[in-house]
Amino acid sequence: MTRFANKTVVITGASRGIGAAIARRFAREGANLVVSANEDAVHGVAQTIQAEGGRAISVLCDVTDKASVVALYDAAEKAFGSVDVSIQNAGVITIAKVEDLPENDWDKVMAVNTKGVFLCAQEAIARMRKHGKGGRIINTASGQARDGFIYTPHYAASKMGVVGITQSLAKEVAIEGITVNAFCPGIIETDMWAYNDQAWGKLLGTYAPGELMKEWVEGIPMKRAGSGEDVAGLVTFLASEDAAYITGQTINVDGGLIMS
Ligand SMILES: NC(=O)c1ccc[n+]([C@@H]2O[C@H](COP(=O)([O-])OP(=O)(O)OC[C@H]3O[C@@H](n4cnc5c(N)ncnc54)[C@H](O)[C@@H]3O)[C@@H](O)[C@H]2O)c1
Repeated sequence: MTRFANKTVVITGASRGIGAAIARRFAREGANLVVSANEDAVHGVAQTIQAEGGRAISVLCDVTDKASVVALYDAAEKAFGSVDVSIQNAGVITIAKVEDLPENDWDKVMAVNTKGVFLCAQEAIARMRKHGKGGRIINTASGQARDGFIYTPHYAASKMGVVGITQSLAKEVAIEGITVNAFCPGIIETDMWAYNDQAWGKLLGTYAPGELMKEWVEGIPMKRAGSGEDVAGLVTFLASEDAAYITGQTINVDGGLIMS
């Protein structure tokens, strides 16, 4: 498939989990990939894409740091000429009872999940405007952008903030052919969810590893957790020509867990 031939896709948080799955899917569909994260494993993702016959570079970037974000988009333009799709996917979570939640956790989660989305979108839009070819901004929110879960007020706030950023930017750039959308994964099997399972499991009862997740998956109408591929299907659609008339939207990809 070559739906994204000659398109350059920048994706953050792509060293593993949802981001790596999205990157590999775009590469299989012909895109030039700029995979980024704040850990060295991201280089392995680029190597995997190359081994599968795709085009990719990897760039270390801390999305909370403006200079690091500028360097990421500079590297993308240097390697491939322009940026057509920018996926703000880097994210972190911590889980604690309200009186035990350190101020540092609040600051870090807001910095990565909300400010990081803004800094990357800001830089991507500036480059898209310069090239005048339109583009796609796609932001990772969460089921927690719909319904704040227990013991994670900072994470819920950070992801609801992503929806606000998405709507505001969508209105500003719509006339320039740039769409801005967000997606809300539900329970997707990644390292983050492995942490969630044990951290929520300790606070909500005496769950052995995997037990809480199993219980929550029972509450999903489709009765299964999601995969990175499930998410990649939605994200590639939002990046495609078929989604040209969709902007400012936040779409759930969660097997029916949340229906709003
Ligand atoms: N897994 C789920 O069930 C789930 C559900 C809802 C939302 N999400 C969201 O999806 C996104 C990806 O989640 P995942 O499950 O793949 O997580 P993960 O923990 O497996 O991967 C997180 C990625 O973010 C990167 N990252 C963290 N801090 C960073 C920083 N400061 N700068 C740059 N990169 C940074 C990590 O290097 C890694 O690549 C996150 O935004 C997360 O909040 C995940």
